[in-house]
Amino acid sequence: MKEQLEQIKAQSMQELESATDLQGLDEIRIKYLGKKGALTSVLRGMGALPPEERPQAGALANQARAAIEAAIEQKDAQLSGQARKAQLAGETLDVTMPGRRHKAGKLHPLTQVLDDVKDIFIGMGFSIAQGPDVELDYYNFEALNIPKNHPARDTQDTFYIDENVVLRTQTSPVQVRVMEKQKPPIRIIAPGMVYRSDAVDATHSPVFHQIEGLVVDKGITMGDLKGTLEVFAHALYGADVKVRFRPHHFPFTEPSAEMDVSCFVCGGEGCRVCKGEGWIEILGAGMVHPKVLAGCGIDPEVYSGFAFGLGLERVTMRRYDIDDLRLFFENDVRFLKQF
Ligand code: PHE
Repeated sequence: MKEQLEQIKAQSMQELESATDLQGLDEIRIKYLGKKGALTSVLRGMGALPPEERPQAGALANQARAAIEAAIEQKDAQLSGQARKAQLAGETLDVTMPGRRHKAGKLHPLTQVLDDVKDIFIGMGFSIAQGPDVELDYYNFEALNIPKNHPARDTQDTFYIDENVVLRTQTSPVQVRVMEKQKPPIRIIAPGMVYRSDAVDATHSPVFHQIEGLVVDKGITMGDLKGTLEVFAHALYGADVKVRFRPHHFPFTEPSAEMDVSCFVCGGEGCRVCKGEGWIEILGAGMVHPKVLAGCGIDPEVYSGFAFGLGLERVTMRRYDIDDLRLFFENDVRFLKQF
């Protein structure tokens, strides 16, 4: 029996020595100290010993158990410590590691120029007005002195929803909507999308943006139109830019004009951007036609006004020397990140 105990002790110590993890340690504990373990079965055999040998054998067995338990406990502490260290090492955070940089988004070039244009006019006391994209034929044409069968309708390539409803071809209908609701003095700009049934190419798109302007009050003259638009051109393109007005025709203004600015690339010499002309057309304008005022319930004998409309894509293309309109709508980041 003594030999058996010695052997169990020696064998368990050896196995403990080579245990490498807590699970292996637990297996050893069960193998030797468990209910069906080696030591337990030796203790069970004690009953077969003669009574005078039992105390000594019992003491030996207890010694062996205590020795194995102590060894297991020691190994347990050692392995737990190692496991904890490994866990901590695995969870280490390097707080000095540089962070990941996120690319900052930017406003679309059309939005940037629109914001500039809005700022300039708000600075001159204008407010912002809006109207619907899906518009009645009445506002887009009739109320602007463009009756059915008027030749001006042909040049606008209108998308018709039905006989009386169109996608607006210009922002000018907002003039009428504002004048119907608001009595003078009126000073508004109305930016928005407009639609024309054009095939897509470098200078045409079925959807583009206009910014409409309208001023109505007592005693408004062509001088106010010229002065306001000159201030605008200088604010947008710089104080050196020269401005000129050419006679033109729009059914809803009389007289009508187009405004050119001296080419801000060549300064008027003639270059690729101004196509050798030295001037670039940026907007249409005129004094609001008396018929249009009267149609909105504003007495043309008392009030007068001027209006203008400019193409946002055109103004932006000229500002940044962009030669293809399609770039605005493709949203290729290689293009967009340049602005
Ligand atoms: N609506 C005109 C166009 O689209 C521009 C314009 C607006 C002209 C206001 C005069 C006054 O061409």
